Amino acid sequence: MLEAFDFVIFGGAGDLALRKLVPAFYRAYRNGELPKGTRIIPTCRNTDVVRDYKNKVREAAQKHLRADEFVDADWQAFEEYIFPIFLDIAKKDEKWDEMGALLNGSGNAQRVFYLSTPPSVFSVCSKHLSETGLITPTSRVVVEKPLGYDSASAEEINSQIAEYFDESCIFRIDHYLGKETVQNLLALRFANGMFEHLWDAKTIDHVQITIAETVGLEGRASFYNDAGAMRDMVQNHILQLLCLVAMESPNRLTADRVRAEKLKVLENLRPLTGNSVKINTVRGQFAAGEINGKPVPAYQEELGSTSSTETYVAIRAHIDNSRWANVPFYLRTGKRMKQRFAEIVIQYKDVAHRVYPEAAGKTVPNRLVIRLQPEENIKIVMTTRNLEKQETELRPVVLNFNFADTYKDFQSDAYKRLMLDAAKNDASLFIHRAEVAAAWGWVDPIIEAWARPENNPHFYRAGGWGPQAADELIQSDGRNWFVVD
Ligand code: BG6
Repeated sequence: MLEAFDFVIFGGAGDLALRKLVPAFYRAYRNGELPKGTRIIPTCRNTDVVRDYKNKVREAAQKHLRADEFVDADWQAFEEYIFPIFLDIAKKDEKWDEMGALLNGSGNAQRVFYLSTPPSVFSVCSKHLSETGLITPTSRVVVEKPLGYDSASAEEINSQIAEYFDESCIFRIDHYLGKETVQNLLALRFANGMFEHLWDAKTIDHVQITIAETVGLEGRASFYNDAGAMRDMVQNHILQLLCLVAMESPNRLTADRVRAEKLKVLENLRPLTGNSVKINTVRGQFAAGEINGKPVPAYQEELGSTSSTETYVAIRAHIDNSRWANVPFYLRTGKRMKQRFAEIVIQYKDVAHRVYPEAAGKTVPNRLVIRLQPEENIKIVMTTRNLEKQETELRPVVLNFNFADTYKDFQSDAYKRLMLDAAKNDASLFIHRAEVAAAWGWVDPIIEAWARPENNPHFYRAGGWGPQAADELIQSDGRNWFVVD
């Protein structure tokens, strides 16, 4: 049973807090998951914002929650849980003591400090929390991605936080791990012999992992232009999905065991350096185009300056262990693509001997297609005999398990799940320091090689499927990117 807790959101008036974090708590409240006496404490650097906070967050919630979710009476009742306060993180003044009095006076033992701020203030914020005596044995800190800019900066940030919090109390968030369909990957693999027995180099031809987005910069120009798709999406979300697909079975589903298995995958990723970066990766940047019938400007126009930052990445990766020997993992992600979707495709090897003649029609490879969003489903692509024909003809069909058909009231909110887990002290869905280091260790040399002019991004039309070079990357192996209609 989750007991009442205090949840401080540093950067409480920021975009993430307003759009995702506070609305996620509202969902928890409506679902009966928010214990009475819980307090959500957003900190703001501006007294006017503190005064107006409840209106501001209500407005944001109305905009971002589904229309049927926002019920005025429920929101009003939920507002009782919100305690906005004024605090300048960088300044050690009496406001910290006021926050201390608020926390110490609540009687809630469980404390979570969510640093929804730039990493540059993680250290000073932890220091001030420590000096004010607010870090108790039942306190946790949640830190947002991106954790660093490369291995060295990530290490520095991790070391700074580690001065004040024990590793077991540091919750590094990757919201992809909070998506129910992502967690279901573990159930799919480890609770279904049918799949787990067919999950290796003997049976699988290759794996594709795609996160495609239609959005562009979304007002985050300066952050995004420094980061690019590699740091923003691949280093974390894509590699975490890869880990869940490729990891060995943990002997128990505890945070330590799951994270140890994920770490092995990251450590076994074949390094891409120098020339192999050119052969195995494609960077892209969107040019002007059209999405859903609306014209959209090129990246550099949206940014307002010239830039060689990538908004698209495709990679052919390999995991050097016996389970995955010679099985390519094709990874791709991009902004301003034709459709928003995230999907994992497991493509199986063909039958060893074909008994049907070519004339019987085209067979398709068996595929297990796991759609993570926006729809949530699992499809199996298989071949059947075409019953509409007298003569022998083969035809591909799709078995479709749609989560919404079975779980009628199913509502996925990754942040809700992860924040309640942090309040419960369950770190299974958070990233260990060693995973962050291993992921950067693989990504750094690729980014380094990209600095060479020969690796400048290829342009792709907004509203398309990425650069031609990404198609050529997979086609050179006799394969294609896959989209289930
Ligand atoms: C964030 C990235 O981590 O994930 C964004 O910083 C991206 O650039 C977002 O748009 C995608 O998340 P989701 O859940 O909408 O797929």
